[in-house]
Parts: sequence; C-alpha cells; structure tokens
Amino acid sequence: MRNSRLRPVKITGLSTYVPPRVLTNADLERMVDTSNEWILQRTGIRERHIADPGTATSDLATRAVQSALQEARVAPERIGFIVVGTTTPDTIFPSTACMVQNNIGARHAWGFDLGAACSGFTYALTTAAQMVATGAHDYALAVGADVMSSIIDYTDRTTCVLFGDGAGAAVLGPAEEGEPHIIDFAHEIDGSGGAALMMPAGGSRLPASHETIDKRLHYVKQDGAVVFKFAVKKTEEISRRLLDRHGIDPSQIDLFVSHQANRRIIEAATERLGLAPDKVVINLEKYGNTTAGTIPLALADARREGRLKKGDLVLLASVGAGFTVGAVLLRWSL
Ligand code: ACO
Repeated sequence: MRNSRLRPVKITGLSTYVPPRVLTNADLERMVDTSNEWILQRTGIRERHIADPGTATSDLATRAVQSALQEARVAPERIGFIVVGTTTPDTIFPSTACMVQNNIGARHAWGFDLGAACSGFTYALTTAAQMVATGAHDYALAVGADVMSSIIDYTDRTTCVLFGDGAGAAVLGPAEEGEPHIIDFAHEIDGSGGAALMMPAGGSRLPASHETIDKRLHYVKQDGAVVFKFAVKKTEEISRRLLDRHGIDPSQIDLFVSHQANRRIIEAATERLGLAPDKVVINLEKYGNTTAGTIPLALADARREGRLKKGDLVLLASVGAGFTVGAVLLRWSL
C-alpha cells in the first residue's frame, strides 16, 4: 500500500471455525510416550480441535467465511476474489478456493490456493488486499484453513502434540478516507530451509506409492530445533523491518498477533522486540498450531476478550515451512 494511487483497504468482517472434537494432552498420553507436563512446558499447548474423518479444509473454511460475510454484511455475489492459504487442500486439484466459492455461492469470484504453510493467512491477507487496493475488486476473501490432522503421524510424539485443525476468514473491502485500514506488509521466503519442515511424499518428487506409505512419508517431518531458532529470529527481524519502514517503535503497537506454534517461540521473539506481555496474544493452549488458521483464531479470541478495539495498531507476524516469513501492519477496523 506504498503506492499512493492504491486505495486504502480494511477488514470488514472476520470469523473463525474449529471442529468440535477436542484432543487433550491426556488423550495424547494414551496414544504416544508423552506427558501433559512435557507438552505444556515445551510448547504451551493443552488441547487442540480435530476434524472428524471425512471433514476437509473447505468445510472448515466455508463455515468461517459464511460468518465473516455476515459480519461484513456483504453478499457472496459481491465477492470478486478468494484466496485460501492452506497446506492441506481437500485435493491437490481442484483448489480449495473453488470449493469454498461453490459452497458460498460466490458467483462472480475467481481465486486460488496459496501454499505458504504457517504464513498462509498473512500471505493471503496481503494478496487479497492488493485486489481491493488496485480497484480490481471491491470485496475479497482472505482465508487461512488447515486440517493438519490429515497429515500428522499420530505415532510420532515429536510432531503429533503440536498441531490442530481450524480456519479463519477475513472479508476485505475499501476503506473510506481516514478510516482504519491495512497499512503495509513485509514478506520473504528462504527455500534453503525447506528440508527442516516438510511432507516428503505425495507431490511430483515422490508420488504416492506403497513404499511411500510404508515409510510414513505422507506425514509432517521436522527438525524442531532448526525451525524454533529460525522462527524466533525471523519473527523479530520481519517485525522490526516493517515497523522501521514507518518509524514506529515496537512499544507503540497496541497488539501483536503472531503465528501460534509454540509459546516459547512467541515469548522469545516478543522479548527481543521489547513488547510487554499484555500486548501479545497467545491462545495456542486451546488450539495448538493450526498452521494457516492461527492468526485469525488469535485475532478472534483477542476481540472476544475485549483486547482489540477499532483503531488499534496491530502487527501480525508469521514464520512457516519453506521457510516463509511475513508481517502485516494495520489499524484495526472492526
Ligand atoms: N513428549 C515427550 N518427550 C518428547 C516429545 C513429546 N511429545 N517430543 C520430543 N520429546 C523428547 C525428544 O525425543 C528429546 O528426547 P532425547 O533428549 O532423549 O532425545 C527431548 O524430548 C527433547 O527434544 P527436543 O526436540 O530438543 O525438544 P525441544 O525443547 O526442542 O522441543 C519442539 C521440541 C516443541 C518441537 C520445539 O523444537 C519446537 O516447538 N520447534 C518449533 C517447531 C514448530 O512449532 N513447528 C511447527 C510449524 S513451523 C512454525 O510454525 C514456525
């Protein structure tokens, strides 16, 4: 939004959805060699929501989108563009965006899925915002949704305790002069870190076969320590880069909402930024890491708790597989 010919864009509706079934740390104690104490101490997670078999990412996304549209008072026919950040599309093709479009009856929309892992929502927000900013469309949907349980190995204690399922959606529209709006973004990718967090099989490199299934290669594999260090460093770095561009000191931020992977990552990064804990949203104890769903879920909880008011200066930040890195600065508009 640095180009002055672009029009300001605001979030006009935001909503989330998680499936009702809850998987607690006690449940996981019965599945793998772990303990509630280890999970809580090392990650901060107490429970996560898990979709029933047969429930796909578009099902969660559709629920979130429908209630976001209600809040925005925007009819589905007025949506021009839909982008779904997801790592767990219903199918490799067609895209989850097509399924959401059909489910909600967005007859005049086009769109696609966006693969940015845990940065799915920040990247989707930026992408959708450009469509409104340029005037290409008046209303656009930015969705972050994942059914991580579909790619998690529930015999691997190093990953199965971390993730949950969930979705969030924002409706974007033009802001009037002087209204709170999305201010700017900063994003980067670093493919050299790809091997640290990935699903090895199921793509064109290693298509599904009996061998890939026997070797359990259709599940998330990660080097937790590498991801941890990168996430702390880059969350701080991208946040500072974006704030510096606008001459904003981190202390001026009203609310910092980062990707929710691990309480220790968020605390280390926000300590480096010098942010007071009351300015930082941490809600991963209830949901675990829902990948593209975490940031809207955290925004929604902050709103519910009265921590987010119209006009507040909000910084979103994410680090995900790829690696993908992102930050979005905005004035809260709801
Ligand atoms: N229960 C009990 N013990 C466990 C578990 C578990 N669930 N998982 C691992 N352990 C054991 C390990 O086997 C290891 O045992 P050992 O010392 O005998 O080998 C010990 O605990 C310590 O393991 P570490 O991997 O060193 O534990 P660490 O403190 O690094 O925590 C964790 C691991 C939680 C995965 C951490 O590295 C992390 O959060 N990394 C970030 C990864 C992440 O969140 N990725 C998600 C997507 S990317 C993103 O969102 C940024």
